[in-house]
Amino acid sequence: MGCEMTAIANQQQAEAWNGWEGRLWADHPERYNGMMAAFDAPLFAAADIEDGHTVLDVGCGAGLTTRLAARKAGSGHALGIDISAPLVERARRDAAAENITNIRFEQGDAQVHPFAGPGFDVVLSRGGVMFFADLVAAFGHLRGALAPDGRLTFLGPRSGGADSAYARATAALTPYLREPSPAALGMGSLLAPGRITEVLTAAGFHDIEITPVDADMGFGADIPAATDFVFSMAPIQHNLRNVDADSIAGLRDRVQDALGEFETPQGVRIPGGVWIVTAGC
Ligand SMILES: C[S@@+](CC[C@H](N)C(=O)[O-])C[C@H]1O[C@@H](n2cnc3c(N)ncnc32)[C@H](O)[C@@H]1O
Repeated sequence: MGCEMTAIANQQQAEAWNGWEGRLWADHPERYNGMMAAFDAPLFAAADIEDGHTVLDVGCGAGLTTRLAARKAGSGHALGIDISAPLVERARRDAAAENITNIRFEQGDAQVHPFAGPGFDVVLSRGGVMFFADLVAAFGHLRGALAPDGRLTFLGPRSGGADSAYARATAALTPYLREPSPAALGMGSLLAPGRITEVLTAAGFHDIEITPVDADMGFGADIPAATDFVFSMAPIQHNLRNVDADSIAGLRDRVQDALGEFETPQGVRIPGGVWIVTAGC
């Protein structure tokens, strides 16, 4: 399969994730993987992938969760789908470097991508299903890609609110964060459990379970690394793009000080929370 994309319903997201934000993620998968690492065990426990299963990883990004899924599927296989060419390229490269053979990646819009085959046993996503402009259409399409007794499992963001540890660590930036970056536009579309239930029910899913999971998120080995990570994040870069260098230097000092609260022998770890959602088709 080449890099040519099939039909696109989410044009704005395709542009955003194929631009500088997608390249940023593709160049530094270790940063996002480190931040999300503590959630991988509960996500995969919920997905319950067995030997022989076929798994679809939606919005697979650089493909860590696709690789984990392929290993769990054993004699089965995993397919990662992502709208971003730089991320699919990175995902293919990293899977090849690990000599994983029961894995494939396709570039496409998961809302409309023509998935071949008899149907997946598991549709999985770590933070890749919030971005669709038409959530019901997208989840309906993913439901259609499942085998008759297949199951959906995804991780989505949960709002920490203004008092969260992350908000405390980055309080100096709050006045500047006026709008989402282009790639983060849909990021908050499934924050409310009521909305998740509404969307999945309208898309035909049943037995919907939404579980809050809390864990410490890794931001880097030490405070300078964590500060670099915070200031590298696309939404922060986007909102600071017109701020002068002296002001940014001052903001860095303030964030660096605030991150001190979260320094541990295992690196900078900030408590956070996500939803893990499962549903039958
Ligand atoms: C927050 S990132 C998560 C990446 C990956 N799941 C991980 O955990 O590292 C969201 C991903 O969803 C992808 N994405 C956004 N809209 C998409 C769509 N309509 N179809 C397929 N992938 C999409 C983006 O390109 C991006 O890689």
